[in-house]
Amino acid sequence: MQETLNALVAKAQTELAALKTRPEFEAAKARYVGPNGELTALMKQMGSVPKEQRPALGKLINETKGRVQALLDDALRAIEANELQAQLGPAVDPTLPSPDIGPGTYHPLTLVREEMCRILRKVGFTVADGPEVETEYYCFDALNTPADHPARDAQDTFYFPANARFGNVSKKNPEEKYLLRTHTSSVQIRTMLKGEPPIRIVSPGRVYRRDTTDATHSANFHQLECLYVDKNVTVRDLKALLDYIFASLLGKDTKTRFRPHYFGYTEPSFEVDLSAKHLPKVKKEWIEIGGCGMVDPVVFSDVGYDPEVWSGYAFGMGLERLAMLLYGIDDIRYFYQNDLRFLKQFA
Ligand code: DAH
Repeated sequence: MQETLNALVAKAQTELAALKTRPEFEAAKARYVGPNGELTALMKQMGSVPKEQRPALGKLINETKGRVQALLDDALRAIEANELQAQLGPAVDPTLPSPDIGPGTYHPLTLVREEMCRILRKVGFTVADGPEVETEYYCFDALNTPADHPARDAQDTFYFPANARFGNVSKKNPEEKYLLRTHTSSVQIRTMLKGEPPIRIVSPGRVYRRDTTDATHSANFHQLECLYVDKNVTVRDLKALLDYIFASLLGKDTKTRFRPHYFGYTEPSFEVDLSAKHLPKVKKEWIEIGGCGMVDPVVFSDVGYDPEVWSGYAFGMGLERLAMLLYGIDDIRYFYQNDLRFLKQFA
């Protein structure tokens, strides 16, 4: 018996060491220790051995079983190591030059955003932030945009299901819905509710609308919002600030003009056009760049400011549109495609 067992171990030693794959391993394991395996068969012979020889033989078989199991473990470890090696691929040669393409560059939208914030900081504005998930109150109601206003239509706005929860975005009323903000104007309200005037903030950020993507539309894009609240603020201050911003960003030949418009949260309201013929690819005389106006007294009352005491202006504009003007980009989709050939041009 001793010899048979030794022979079995010797056979297992050569056979198991040569295994390459898991199916081969499973088959070999079955051949030795499976229900019909060789070792199992030897164990079954115990019954026919005289009683007094059984303890010695049992010990012998158990030892053999341990040795075969150790060989099986070794074989499996070797197969696993080979599999890992195959996944990792050939060893890296650390002496080769780096495949890294070098340091990154700023995205053109980041460049324009930072430049605008820098220009506005110079005249006393500070950067304010607001959540991209908003509630109807901050995005619409507090901005004097009632429930039947077209901007609130599900055609224009991404609403969350009624049971969506965002622990970090406060609601004004428990029953109002969450939505993706359609403009950065909601930051005006969050800022005013936090403290007393005077206020001078700039708030750049991402906004969302249900637009079909084409060369000039994208379902998410970026805006830059400004709010100024103080005593005796006039339309002239607003116009002067816009003239200053655009001359700083696009050059002193840039002109701005106001066209009367309607926004619920400003009175009077204007659309702002730019004339910047000196920029590349600008063929039209006037290009619409954003909306603005004098903060409506209703908005002040809503946030607890006395409209008899305080006055202010606000404006919002699209950052993509500005970047497209500044750099002569003719398709908004380039901003989001992560194409290095495009991105590297703004380093
Ligand atoms: N929120 C407007 C939009 O998304 C832009 C705007 C207009 C912002 C007038 C303002 C404003 O602050 O006073 O089209």
